[in-house]
Amino acid sequence: MASAPRFAMASPVGHSVSEFSSDVVVGLRHPGQKELPSKYLYDAVGSALFDAICVLPEYGLNRAGQRMLERYSGEITDRVPGPVVVAELGSGSGQQTRWLLEALARRQRVNYYPIDISGSALFRCQQELGQIDLVSIVGFERAYLDGLQEVAARRRSGERLFVLFLGSTIGNFDRPAGDQFLREVRSILRAGDALLLATDIEKPISKLVLAYDDPAGVTAAFNKNLLARINRELGGDFDLAQFEHVVRYDETERRIEMHLRSKAWQRVTIREAGFRFYLREGETIWTESSHKYDSQGVIQMGERAGYQCAGQWHDSEWPLAQNLFFAV
Ligand SMILES: C[S@@+](CC[C@H](N)C(=O)[O-])C[C@H]1O[C@@H](n2cnc3c(N)ncnc32)[C@H](O)[C@@H]1O
Repeated sequence: MASAPRFAMASPVGHSVSEFSSDVVVGLRHPGQKELPSKYLYDAVGSALFDAICVLPEYGLNRAGQRMLERYSGEITDRVPGPVVVAELGSGSGQQTRWLLEALARRQRVNYYPIDISGSALFRCQQELGQIDLVSIVGFERAYLDGLQEVAARRRSGERLFVLFLGSTIGNFDRPAGDQFLREVRSILRAGDALLLATDIEKPISKLVLAYDDPAGVTAAFNKNLLARINRELGGDFDLAQFEHVVRYDETERRIEMHLRSKAWQRVTIREAGFRFYLREGETIWTESSHKYDSQGVIQMGERAGYQCAGQWHDSEWPLAQNLFFAV
């Protein structure tokens, strides 16, 4: 008898060029500071560059996440009584998730649903995790909440949803938007469902800046790829040589900001959007924020959004917290 496939993709919804185009125009028209939404950093090239960032010596965040889950997955999953189904928001290539899935698979069959807007990241995730015994994978190429709603609709009665949001990706949201996002996740969950949220903890500024501005220029390439993507998909004419990658730490907001700074006055046309705009010499386009946290503040953030903290684990080498919450 043929065995059931252990991984599959939910039917694709399709990448909307018009949404990409209108988001780009809205961001570049933003009064005062031009912006581009960070989610567009992750096409196939961007996702591959992100995986390369994760092995850079300067970027300790991903390694800390892996170290912690290798060490604490048993403890974490013991606090989430089964049976559970696992949904991961922004799974990327899923490198950190292996330990959690292996720990769960020691006690039950596991349905794992990675949710990511990047199809290529999901493909890698399935390659990375597809061979774990007793784990079945269905990837959702969706925005976070759309994917989570579909996963929640699939769960059987008596199953607990265990949502993972790793890699401190929550830090890409401004603080009020992060609170709102956690509330929206909560509204999809039932009381007793679990959320494992990783949050990067504040650390010396020089260490943080180096993590996002590595000497080999991999993060710079990741950032500039956003302009290259606009050229490829929307018929833009950005001259990448006329931009430099800039990283700042805002001490008030406690966040790293990535920008692209124009080296000269320039005019840019984005054909598919029917849009032309100008950049002054030195003007920047803000492409990503990575907010940093303190351990107590994360617990309060969860409580504000309708969760109770059931455990917090820390890495001493690269301060990072894994926070286990239950929906109340
Ligand atoms: C910082 S990476 C983290 C990847 C992985 N969780 C890790 O810790 O290594 C963020 C991931 O979220 C995905 N992503 C970004 N915005 C998204 C959105 N709005 N909906 C779904 N996925 C998104 C990206 O494609 C990327 O794979």
